[in-house]
Amino acid sequence: MNIGADIEEVKRFKKYAKDKERLERLFSKDEIFYCLSKKNPAQSLAARFCAKEAVWKALEKENKKITVADISVKNNSDGTPEIYVKNKKRKDVKVSLSHTKEYAMAMAVKL
Ligand SMILES: CC(C)(COP(=O)(O)OP(=O)(O)OC[C@H]1O[C@@H](n2cnc3c(N)ncnc32)[C@H](O)[C@@H]1OP(=O)(O)O)[C@@H](O)C(=O)NCCC(=O)NCCS
Repeated sequence: MNIGADIEEVKRFKKYAKDKERLERLFSKDEIFYCLSKKNPAQSLAARFCAKEAVWKALEKENKKITVADISVKNNSDGTPEIYVKNKKRKDVKVSLSHTKEYAMAMAVKL
């Protein structure tokens, strides 16, 4: 097993939310659609960025071949976040996201 964590300030992502080019560099189309449909898009974008970093850290043995942009989050129908790496669902990687007005964080476990 391995773990990873990350925390970010939400304010950084308020600018990103209006910058289509930057969003598309970092986030998948589904992530952008999901986050921009939220009341506070920056919080969800920040949490997903944390998830990417946390998963990258947890994937210690394979992360030389991937960038954070290869990692994406999709929430299933009950809201649980699931991880995809290069568009492939990873059942062996679990994440948990949380965000407030100012901060977002994520923890990841590689089983
Ligand atoms: C899920 C729940 C615990 C989140 O707690 P919270 O303090 O409001 O919010 P947090 O900032 O800690 O966590 C939010 C993140 O939890 C994640 N999440 C949502 N539902 C989840 C679930 N069932 N299991 C695990 N994680 C979940 C999401 O990724 C969310 O981030 P996002 O909105 O950017 O996608 C809370 O909303 C809850 O108990 N809901 C009851 C179930 C519910 O209403 N589900 C609706 C889904 S349709």
